[in-house]
Amino acid sequence: MKNQHQSNPKQAAGERAAGLVEDGMVVGLGTGSTTAYAIKEIGRRVADGLDILGVPTSYQSAFLAAQNGIPLTTLDEHPELDIDIDGADQIAGFSVIKGGGAAHTREKIVALSSKTFVVVADESKCSDILSHPVPLEVLPFALKLAIKQVIKLGGKVELRMGVSKDGPVISDNGNFIMDADFGKIDDPASLGEKLSQCCGIVEHGIFTGVDAVYIGKKDGSVEIKEA
Ligand code: A5P
Repeated sequence: MKNQHQSNPKQAAGERAAGLVEDGMVVGLGTGSTTAYAIKEIGRRVADGLDILGVPTSYQSAFLAAQNGIPLTTLDEHPELDIDIDGADQIAGFSVIKGGGAAHTREKIVALSSKTFVVVADESKCSDILSHPVPLEVLPFALKLAIKQVIKLGGKVELRMGVSKDGPVISDNGNFIMDADFGKIDDPASLGEKLSQCCGIVEHGIFTGVDAVYIGKKDGSVEIKEA
């Protein structure tokens, strides 16, 4: 029998991870095209009686959750989440780079507020070593200082420009996004710590300590790796 997700590995990963959500949970709702499948599947289960609350990581995930009937809450009301499901731009082991959609600051806040952080992706995101440019959310006031500090750390910096907008991308928090290419990142935790120390950088897109990764394959299967 042909698997229904044969041509959609993102859907396979997202829907499978949505199966981790149980009654009574407070759930982090990540951002991006893979997590969108998880959100839609959670919404389908809510329509069937699943009783959960979601915490969105962006306007995108808030809109999608509302469209799919998922009741939302905030970190002020629920500072500890049971599970967070989110996508990634690149995965190496249990470290990932996020922020391709400029949402990594809220995504990291929600991930660090959650008991379990699950990453969903298709197999094209997997790598032996992280090397994807690292998204950085930067206070506009600090742009030049931030660039100087990132160059000092060995990064090649590009200010991310809008596609259907003239000028730079503005994040959901009102900040600029820079992409910093460091080549191969041998020690993601160490680079992350250095970036966290840069004045004017609100947050970087290196996430370490992922609890589980759900990798969708072209044949419709999902490989699950747990830390
Ligand atoms: C949003 O800023 C990102 O962190 C996304 O989670 C990441 O880019 C993965 O997106 P896709 O699932 O669309 O590839």
